[in-house]
Amino acid sequence: MRLPSSTSRALSTEAGSFMRIVIPGGSGQVGTVLARAMRADGHDVCVLSRKPSDAPWRTVAWDARTLGPWISELNGADAVINLAGRSVNCRYSAANRRLIADSRVESTRVVGQAIAQSARPPRVWLQASTATIYAHRYDFANDEETGILGGGEPNAPDTWRFSIDVAKAWEQAANEANVPCTRKVLMRSAMTMSIDSGGIFDTLLGLVRRGFGGASGDGRQFVSWIHARDFIRGVYWLIEHDGLSGPVNLSSPHPLPNSQFMRDLRMAWGTRIGLPAAVWMLEIGAILLRTETELILKSRRVVPRRLLESGFTFKFPGWPQAAADLCTRWKSDRA
Ligand SMILES: NC(=O)c1ccc[n+]([C@@H]2O[C@H](COP(=O)([O-])OP(=O)(O)OC[C@H]3O[C@@H](n4cnc5c(N)ncnc54)[C@H](OP(=O)(O)O)[C@@H]3O)[C@@H](O)[C@H]2O)c1
Repeated sequence: MRLPSSTSRALSTEAGSFMRIVIPGGSGQVGTVLARAMRADGHDVCVLSRKPSDAPWRTVAWDARTLGPWISELNGADAVINLAGRSVNCRYSAANRRLIADSRVESTRVVGQAIAQSARPPRVWLQASTATIYAHRYDFANDEETGILGGGEPNAPDTWRFSIDVAKAWEQAANEANVPCTRKVLMRSAMTMSIDSGGIFDTLLGLVRRGFGGASGDGRQFVSWIHARDFIRGVYWLIEHDGLSGPVNLSSPHPLPNSQFMRDLRMAWGTRIGLPAAVWMLEIGAILLRTETELILKSRRVVPRRLLESGFTFKFPGWPQAAADLCTRWKSDRA
């Protein structure tokens, strides 16, 4: 296996051929970040999509629920990175809740079945999960060993418990897959910050640019985040390191309170003023924008213990530097 580009060169341990990488659900924000980088690195990238469209990489049809001709793509692949799932950026109506949960569990199950049937199963299966699986807390950071899974917090809103239930069911579906020849990794990812339009960073920067980039609620809730460049490097690291399996937090080592996170983003953009938003304003805004306040108000204090202990180093460990880099690249991309 060879990892040739600037993103991956430092991680390369073996010389050899390029990788074949299959990304179910790879047409979204995170998948596009990965597919673009891996394709630029010369790997053979295949995205599985319910609506294949033109892309610089191959896209193959699947329905994310049942086995089909797409399973041949997994045969002999080096890595499968399953990102499929209905976006959580919506109101948690009964219908949406069903879609959010079913799309994740069913797509994970069918990827597991496809791997189990492969004559030459992929070496590694990286399965998307989420840092949201951990408890809402301020006191200590959640790592993979000592972290507390959420769901038992007193007075937690029902929407928060729903997300945690989904995350647990999602991981369980992967854990239940019987794929003895394929290493499984559950990627408990924090918010991935890339400059792409419509992504989380673009949305937050949009608030700052319009003067609304103050603290959300009381601003004490922690924000866990990861720069897209480190996310890509982290994924390569997980592919390369055979000793890593099970849950792995993909987040920067320095989560920070929302008020500080927004202040650093304002500084990086070059503005001091940012109107804060009280909880009631956020609730109204979330209804108007057809989303949920959980994405902003839950305290996600998550650290990447297993990545760090395995020797991974971050290019952007701290938010001020990451925000400055993202703002600079956001500006030059849109100049
Ligand atoms: N973005 C983040 O920072 C972040 C953080 C933590 C965890 N995650 C998780 O990582 C995964 C990828 O994130 P993302 O931001 O790239 O998500 P995304 O932009 O919403 O893309 C997910 C992909 O899943 C597919 N999909 C949508 N609805 C589906 C359904 N009902 N059934 C099956 N597939 C469906 C879509 O592909 P097609 O329409 O082409 O089939 C879509 O491109 C998600 O599962 C997300 O929950 C993301």
